[in-house]
Order: sequence, then structure tokens, then C-alpha cells
Amino acid sequence: MSLVPVLSCPTVPLSNGLQIPILGLGTSHFGGFSHEAVVYALAECGVRHIDTAKRYNCEERLGKAIKDSGVPRRDLWLTNKLWPGDYGYKDAKRACLESCSAMGVDYFDLYLMHWPEAESLTSGCSNREMRAETWRALEELYEEGICRAIGVSNFLVSHLEQLKEDCSVVPHVNQVEYHPFQQPKPLIDYCRKEGIVFEGYSPLAKGQVFSDATVQQIAEKHKRTAAQICIRWSIQNGVVTIPKSTKNNRIHENFQVFSFQLDEADMATLGGLHDGRHVTWDPTNVK
Ligand SMILES: NC(=O)c1ccc[n+]([C@@H]2O[C@H](COP(=O)([O-])OP(=O)(O)OC[C@H]3O[C@@H](n4cnc5c(N)ncnc54)[C@H](OP(=O)(O)O)[C@@H]3O)[C@@H](O)[C@H]2O)c1
Repeated sequence: MSLVPVLSCPTVPLSNGLQIPILGLGTSHFGGFSHEAVVYALAECGVRHIDTAKRYNCEERLGKAIKDSGVPRRDLWLTNKLWPGDYGYKDAKRACLESCSAMGVDYFDLYLMHWPEAESLTSGCSNREMRAETWRALEELYEEGICRAIGVSNFLVSHLEQLKEDCSVVPHVNQVEYHPFQQPKPLIDYCRKEGIVFEGYSPLAKGQVFSDATVQQIAEKHKRTAAQICIRWSIQNGVVTIPKSTKNNRIHENFQVFSFQLDEADMATLGGLHDGRHVTWDPTNVK
């Protein structure tokens, strides 16, 4: 029995029947990890979903924070990502096992290819072939139970279409930048049509939402913060959402989004803020 509170957080079903909590805590490489904040999120706020990546360089520290929180592994949804420097069949398998060992876990709930482009290509091998070869390793990790679900990140429709032709398991998730200024609607529609859960990262546009007058107005109307409005908007659109914070008070704030609703007019107003900007990275030119 778990002794720590559990947040009443809705889940989204994956095509294989697993349920991913719709709201999780992000971590990242630049000032993106705090032991105290992870323990607080898990032990005090009832957070049960954490997103990380080998790239963020905090796997060992995160594994320790999870243990220190007292939350049993089975109660937690843990997503990790394979960095393009580890693409290729053998390297991908090795990297996944090394990540498990760095975090002190036996499996990941979700393991993603972080980016559609390989870091380096052996001669005569295209990005498409490298993605397919890497995906075959993830398919095996999935069959072996080391990854309970597998997916991709920053993949466009073209990358997903190619993967569908080249491989057999359809990704369970595509994790993509998503906030009021970046709403890739055709990609979201495609993912949903294909049974791929759409997960959004950088829901606060790395802080850029805070200075937006429209977001501020809606926040005042609901007596909520701009962060809560953007997180609520994202989950109300059915998007799995992973805000990052290293501050206890902000984590608490970001997870208090299940006791109010945005009305249709608010949703439409926020839906109208798309201007196409990327605050992270843009895969448009990746072939
Ligand atoms: N797959 C990918 O390629 C990819 C790319 C980027 C991100 N991600 C994932 O998505 C997660 C979130 O994305 P992100 O970190 O880029 O951006 P974000 O969540 O949109 O914004 C994080 C920034 O907002 C601040 N913040 C958080 N809550 C706040 C609040 N309530 N009030 C004021 N400031 C607040 C944080 O600072 P403090 O920490 O100081 O609170 C941080 O500077 C990452 O941690 C990572 O797990 C994935």
C-alpha cells in the first residue's frame, strides 16, 4: 500500500490498453532537475507521471529521488527517451538497458525515439532507414517487456507514414511541442486517426505564455494563474501534458487544474493564439 497521496488525475488509453496519466512532471537538461522538487511532487502532490530523457543528464539523480519519495515503482508512469547518438539497432538496445540501470528500474512505461534525425549516418544509410532500424530495436524491447509502451517524439506525419511502411508496431505516443502558440492540428488529427496518443511538451512555451495579454485575461476571469490556464487548456484538449518546474510551489500550482473548467469561448480564444512559433526545436526540415 502506498503511504503518499495520489492525485486524482485522469488517464488517456494507449492503443495497447495501458493508461497514461494525462498530466506529468517534466525534467530537462538546463536547470531542469531538483531532487527536492521531484520528491515533493511524488510524496506531497501525488504526481504519478514523470518525463525524462538520457539527454537531460539526470537519470541517476532522478532514480534516487524516485526511491527517496517512497512511491513504489509500480505506481509510477516513467517515460524516458533514446538520444539520436544511440540510434541503430544494437546501440538502441544497449542505451535502453543502460538507462534502466542508471535509473535503477527494470522497465520504462514509455520509451521514445527523441528526434527523427540520427546524429550520424553510416555511409549509404538514410535517416529513414536509421529510424526503421532503431524502431525495430524498440519493438523488441517492447516485446521483451522492458518498455511497456514505445513511441516517438518530434515526428511529423511524413516520418510516421514512413515508419508505418517500414515497421510493424505503430508508435503508442508521439510527443511534440504543444502550447497556445504552437498547435500542429493536422499532426494531431493524423495521430488520433492512426491510434497514436498525442503528448504535448513545453505547455507553458518555456514561460512565454506568461506575458500574453489574452492568457492573462482568461486567468483573471477564472482567478487562476496563467500556467494553470495553459495546462488546463492542453488537458481539456485531451493532450497528455508535461509542464516542467523545479520549484515546489509551482509544481503544486501546475497540478491544481482538475477542479475548474474552461468554457467553450475560452477554449476557442486560446485555440486562436497559434502563431507557429517553436520555443524548443523544429523538425520541419528533417527528411
Ligand atoms: N521531446 C522533446 O523533444 C522535448 C523538448 C522539450 C521539453 N520536453 C519535455 O517537456 C517538459 C516541459 O517542457 P519545457 O521545460 O521546455 O517547458 P515548459 O514546461 O513550457 O516551461 C518550463 C519553464 O516554466 C517555468 N515554470 C513552470 N511552472 C511555472 C509556473 N507555475 N509559474 C511560473 N513559471 C513556471 C519553469 O521554471 P522553474 O523550473 O524555475 O519553475 C521553466 O522555466 C520538459 O521538462 C521535458 O520533460 C520534451
